Amino acid sequence: MLTIGLLGCGNIGNIIAKNHVGVEIVALFDQMPERAEELGRLCHAKAFGDIEEFLSEDFDLVVEAASVSAAQEYALSVLEHGKDLVVMSVGAFADEYFREEVTRRAAALGRRIHIPSGAIFGLDNLKIGQISGITKLLLRTTKNPRSLNMECTERMLLFSGQANECIKHYPKNTNVSVALELAAGRAVEVELWADPDVDRNVHEIVIEGDFGEATITVRNRPSPDNPSTSYLAALSIITLLKNLSEPMRIGT
Ligand SMILES: NC(=O)c1ccc[n+]([C@@H]2O[C@H](COP(=O)([O-])OP(=O)(O)OC[C@H]3O[C@@H](n4cnc5c(N)ncnc54)[C@H](O)[C@@H]3O)[C@@H](O)[C@H]2O)c1
Repeated sequence: MLTIGLLGCGNIGNIIAKNHVGVEIVALFDQMPERAEELGRLCHAKAFGDIEEFLSEDFDLVVEAASVSAAQEYALSVLEHGKDLVVMSVGAFADEYFREEVTRRAAALGRRIHIPSGAIFGLDNLKIGQISGITKLLLRTTKNPRSLNMECTERMLLFSGQANECIKHYPKNTNVSVALELAAGRAVEVELWADPDVDRNVHEIVIEGDFGEATITVRNRPSPDNPSTSYLAALSIITLLKNLSEPMRIGT
């Protein structure tokens, strides 16, 4: 069975620890050691307070569910310790230099980096953008103002522009746009709306290209145990881990 080390024991880490299928969690690390220890007791895994000791433990794959800065700080070290990496904080790859450096090291070391589809559908076939023209790629995200830590009484456009600009203003809303950019191999136009009448995080994706046109709308429910995490994102990471050791790969 694939063995994993969990880097980050917050919302997503807890969801993975309580619901994982087909993998065994053997090691945990968090900058707040008590979080790793608490989760360690729950899943009978060893908690570490030192990143070097954590990465030196014997397991196959690190699942990063911590933060953009943690992904950027530890990714190379994970690969150099002979481990593959799953990155939840996809926003880390908005930094082109970091993305190229990590990709180069992974290739040189024969390691793999996995990025879950997270809170959207459609990433699989969007990868055709790497070999065929995509003329339009738009992500329109609408959230309740509460989840953006603001107040408004009617639907309001907060941002319209390139994903790498949106990141500077709304760093917590970058995972989906960066995942789309990585899949398609091209820039994404982003619109971020606040709407007091929505109670879900809504992602509309508009794609036009040589293949034709597609429009995808996802209305995300919060996770039953963690309202701040989309249920789809939680299901997506658990499914990615389950699929890693299966012989048949489905989807592009
Ligand atoms: N790809 C997706 O669709 C998707 C969906 C949800 C969350 N995420 C991302 O996953 C990450 C985790 O999300 P969450 O909701 O579990 O967050 P969280 O804040 O609940 O938990 C993060 C945990 O990581 C720890 N941590 C943070 N920085 C660290 C560091 N440098 N070293 C060690 N530990 C560190 C924190 O102490 C905390 O316990 C976030 O970056 C979030 O943006 C991605």
